[in-house]
Amino acid sequence: MKDGANHTVTAAVYGAPHSALAAPAAGAAQVSPLVPGSRALEDLPDGSLESLVMLAPPGTAERRYAEAQGLRALKAGGRLTVLAPKDKGGSRLRKELEAFGCAVGESAKRHHRICVVERPAAPAGLAEAIAAGALRQAGGDGLWTQPGVFSWDRLDPGTGLLLETLPPLAGRGADFGCGIGVLALSVLAAPAVTHLTLIDIDRRAVEAARRNVTDPRAEIRWADVRRDAPADLDFVVMNPPFHDGGSEDKALGQGFIRAAHGALRKGGVLWLVANRHLPYEAVLAETFKVVTPRADRAGFKVYEARK
Ligand SMILES: C[S@@+](CC[C@H](N)C(=O)[O-])C[C@H]1O[C@@H](n2cnc3c(N)ncnc32)[C@H](O)[C@@H]1O
Repeated sequence: MKDGANHTVTAAVYGAPHSALAAPAAGAAQVSPLVPGSRALEDLPDGSLESLVMLAPPGTAERRYAEAQGLRALKAGGRLTVLAPKDKGGSRLRKELEAFGCAVGESAKRHHRICVVERPAAPAGLAEAIAAGALRQAGGDGLWTQPGVFSWDRLDPGTGLLLETLPPLAGRGADFGCGIGVLALSVLAAPAVTHLTLIDIDRRAVEAARRNVTDPRAEIRWADVRRDAPADLDFVVMNPPFHDGGSEDKALGQGFIRAAHGALRKGGVLWLVANRHLPYEAVLAETFKVVTPRADRAGFKVYEARK
């Protein structure tokens, strides 16, 4: 049950389920795309796992994809435990697993549904669910993307406003939380940009960005910007993560702003778009020398902040 390039993984965990809800096997390898450096569930050989505990993701296509990848990687008779908050996909788990041909034991605890199955000898529909959730070229722009990645099948309106507002930039910069690379492509259209580091915590976004952004000035990293950011930059662009504006999300966005401040040289500039209701002005004013609102439309605001 070791997690290393040369070891066979026989037990895995996807995400970080609360220990009161499900216990992964000791030494289980992390396989979530949201944990930088972890193994990819997709890379585990067919029938290699004895057990998998999965805190299932919220989107239907990405969840069915993850469940199908898990069933593919499990050996016949191997144990799959899938759980999710009831209102974030949990109430659908049972039906989804039954559709794959599994006999499901279901329980409820702490607003979660917890389903336990033994992998049947011949599950149904795995290839279809994997195809429906896979990395692909989509939309009119033909960019690579994948269900589960931020705004995977449409341009986010906040990103759109930042794209319209950004002037041509120059020097060395970074795109924090780059997603599939939409902002980066626009930034790299400026010839005076000499280097751009794209960073995202989601491996799927990073894999899509690697295919979308092939400019030799781009460097693409699977990392957490709060821990692993470049230094002495001339500029940073970002549409920081938000979900429902809960307190954790605010702290994450504020963490992005502090990380950008730390990554910039004196006089360097941050271009940021955010939902208008998110409280970023205070942290911007506290950390940056000059903060200028540059656009305000349809619930989004763009700021230019100079260090
Ligand atoms: C609002 S989306 C913006 C994506 C892209 N820049 C765009 O505009 O379409 C925020 C991105 O930040 C990423 N993210 C969230 N937390 C992160 C972290 N701690 N470090 C790096 N990226 C993170 C998410 O995976 C997501 O792709």
